[in-house]
Amino acid sequence: MCGIVGYIGKDDIKNRLLDGLAELEYRGYDSAGIAILQESDLSIYKATGKLENLREKAKEYSSGDTFGIGIGHTRWATHGKPTEANAHPHFAEFSYVVHNGIIENYSEIKKELTKKGCSFLSQTDTEVIVHLFEENLKEHKNTLVAFEKTISSLKGAYAILLITKNSPETIYFAKNGSPLIYGKGENGIYFASSDAPLIGSASEVVYLEDGEYGYATNSEEKFFLDFKELNPEFKKLHVNKTFAQKDGFRYFMEKEIYEQHQILLETMMGRVLEHDIVFEEFDAGILVGVESIKICACGTSYHSALAGSYLLERIAKIRTHVEIASEFRYKEPILKESELFVVISQSGETADTLEALKIAKASGLKTLAICNVDNSSIVRLADFTILTRAGIEKGVASTKAFATQIMVLWMLSLFFAKFKGHLQKSDIKKELHKMIESAASTKVDEKLHERLKKLSKRFLHGHGFFFIGRDIFFPLALEGALKLKEISYLHAEGYPAGEMKHGPIALADSELFTIALMPKNLLFEKIKSNVEEIAARDATIAAISPICIDSADDMIYIQNSDSYMVEFFEMMVVLQLFALEVSIRLGNDVDMPRNLAKSVTVE
Ligand code: G6P
Repeated sequence: MCGIVGYIGKDDIKNRLLDGLAELEYRGYDSAGIAILQESDLSIYKATGKLENLREKAKEYSSGDTFGIGIGHTRWATHGKPTEANAHPHFAEFSYVVHNGIIENYSEIKKELTKKGCSFLSQTDTEVIVHLFEENLKEHKNTLVAFEKTISSLKGAYAILLITKNSPETIYFAKNGSPLIYGKGENGIYFASSDAPLIGSASEVVYLEDGEYGYATNSEEKFFLDFKELNPEFKKLHVNKTFAQKDGFRYFMEKEIYEQHQILLETMMGRVLEHDIVFEEFDAGILVGVESIKICACGTSYHSALAGSYLLERIAKIRTHVEIASEFRYKEPILKESELFVVISQSGETADTLEALKIAKASGLKTLAICNVDNSSIVRLADFTILTRAGIEKGVASTKAFATQIMVLWMLSLFFAKFKGHLQKSDIKKELHKMIESAASTKVDEKLHERLKKLSKRFLHGHGFFFIGRDIFFPLALEGALKLKEISYLHAEGYPAGEMKHGPIALADSELFTIALMPKNLLFEKIKSNVEEIAARDATIAAISPICIDSADDMIYIQNSDSYMVEFFEMMVVLQLFALEVSIRLGNDVDMPRNLAKSVTVE
């Protein structure tokens, strides 16, 4: 995930761009860069790491009050390491581009351009855009036509801002898949990946739709879709500055829950194709000589590991064993070289997980990291990495990172299943449809959220919670209980529903709250019996299911789908919102719960 900004005007262009990028740093801070064009003079600055490094590098430069245009970028590395050469803006001979998204067909374009004599300085997918633009300009002579030709050759997701000395007062823009907002204010024209940089500067904005593109100068703005001119709808920008980073949400956690459906698409981008699943990070050769998989992780990542083990065994038919990293490291584990060792970590810095990885490496196992932070210690150490692309997660209680980890594990299961010949092309296609449906099912339904807000007031006391589920819904129950514990400080346990009768059912009375995960598509009758057993002991039960459960005191309905994974993802959102609303009612600090840290780099 990256962030882009643009500005047209004469109001201290450099600082407009840098301040805008500061608001987008939550989208990545592997590197940052700006390019400013004033009366055909081009200045470009790039720096790796946080924005303050760029500020330092560009400190001598003053834009003065001369009219000009500028573009800027803050990077969350996907293609190519976080080096200065890979930092945006990327350039060709006389044009400059910033881009958020992934150009899926960049290798083909690059090959063609290389044949024509273009040379590339970076490993990014983005650089092809600007070279392609200049090639098109040679042929068509008209900048708008060259830009149109360029974007129509691109496959994948993008929000693009392009400037060229050929038309030194114009910013060209295009949006497809990644967000882009166009804003107008007293002091100029603005572009940004989210509202945050525009607040206080732009008074009215256009939220560009997929396929839209255009150009703007100080005196002219044109919007197009499918080569036809548009009259876009400008909206007043009301949000106040304090809410900016949270984009109007009360807490980062809430915002992160709401953005999951979009984030999951980013996780799948370039990996989930129509009939296939690919990882550019490695090929199926990773499995040669591998007989089983061991996964190590902590906290929420441990829960996704457990969920992943069900998928890897069921879909890829590979024996998979999961361990808590802090337990694993001291048990003098017996490791076999035929085991693929997987670690899962949002931060890539968790000390116990890192240590487990070191043990596996020292024992000669192949290692794979599923991680959200590129260039983190875990990523640097593992032989292979799959980045989850959740973007920066600010809420200490993990939500979107969990969602992306599950999606990656699901994709990995399919990828391995294909390699081992357990899936036909038609099966893959069906699974891929389910993935897309699953991502869509995480879009928060406002009515459901309202219902959970209301319901939460009944769950602020009592002597504890049991979250119960079976099969892959058991790790989800663990995660639901962890979310509640982390931010509400109420005692909650996740339990396999079929195991309640072997002890915990002794706790059942009307003050025991049971949250039952009851998917229609996986062991429904079994869990229904388990819930009835608990209901018979008078426990208070809230059931999450598409089917009405007579023995439940409260129902939280999810949509009627025919895939248990769609149900999984939808229930995940319900559990996250439930914890959020209970915590808010209890007056807790949702984003910074007591005693916790986002990344635990000590034992
Ligand atoms: C901390 C966080 C948890 C997280 C765990 C593992 O305890 O508070 O939310 O799940 O670390 O973190 P990792 O970054 O390795 O996923």
